[in-house]
Amino acid sequence: MKLLIDNADIEKIKKVYEFYPADGVTTNPTILAKSGRQPFDVLKEIREFIGEDADIHAQAIARSAEGMVEDAHKIVAELGKNTYVKIPAIEEGFKAMKLLAKEGKIKFTATAVYTPMQAFLSAKAGASYAAPYVNRIDNMGYNGIEITQRIHDIFLNNDLETEVLAASFKNSQQLLELAEYGVGAATAAPDVIFSLVKNDAITSAVETFIKDFEKLVGEGKTMKDC
Ligand code: G3P
Repeated sequence: MKLLIDNADIEKIKKVYEFYPADGVTTNPTILAKSGRQPFDVLKEIREFIGEDADIHAQAIARSAEGMVEDAHKIVAELGKNTYVKIPAIEEGFKAMKLLAKEGKIKFTATAVYTPMQAFLSAKAGASYAAPYVNRIDNMGYNGIEITQRIHDIFLNNDLETEVLAASFKNSQQLLELAEYGVGAATAAPDVIFSLVKNDAITSAVETFIKDFEKLVGEGKTMKDC
């Protein structure tokens, strides 16, 4: 399962990259709006930092299918290879997906996915990924993990090449369940990633090892000093 960062704050992205294995960055219009900066200034800064081999996902904004296709061309022209254009899985979006698939040049991710049927239709229309919003689905009173797993199964059982890009997480357990299930990718906010292994028992175990070693060889000393 790829792990991506769902954010546009370059300092937070840099911090995740410093400490954790990350495969790229996803954004949405709300995330970009939070930066208060021009969208392509932010997106190009992210691309420059993560490099051309990492994945970046940026969303088309237009309401019409033709407008989404124009947005897609602009996004890929600015951000280069390994860019996925997020297209909402709504009626105009499916039309845009079909147009993009026919062109055959731009990879796209179906977004705002709340139901397996949206994911199925997006996959049929040629999406590389479909992005179910796990936590938002939970908040609607349904089971976001189960729906995401059903989507994964639908792709497998229909020989569709589309993969799940699960989004909208609030905790480690949600991500773990999907890793166990082997979905293609998940994207989480930096604060969720920072808390994935935050656990007093783990910290305490490591501290005890260091303190015991220091009793043996002296405070502040490590293997290199021995
Ligand atoms: O990009 C969509 C998804 O990441 C939304 O996440 O945390 O706003 O529910 P969230």
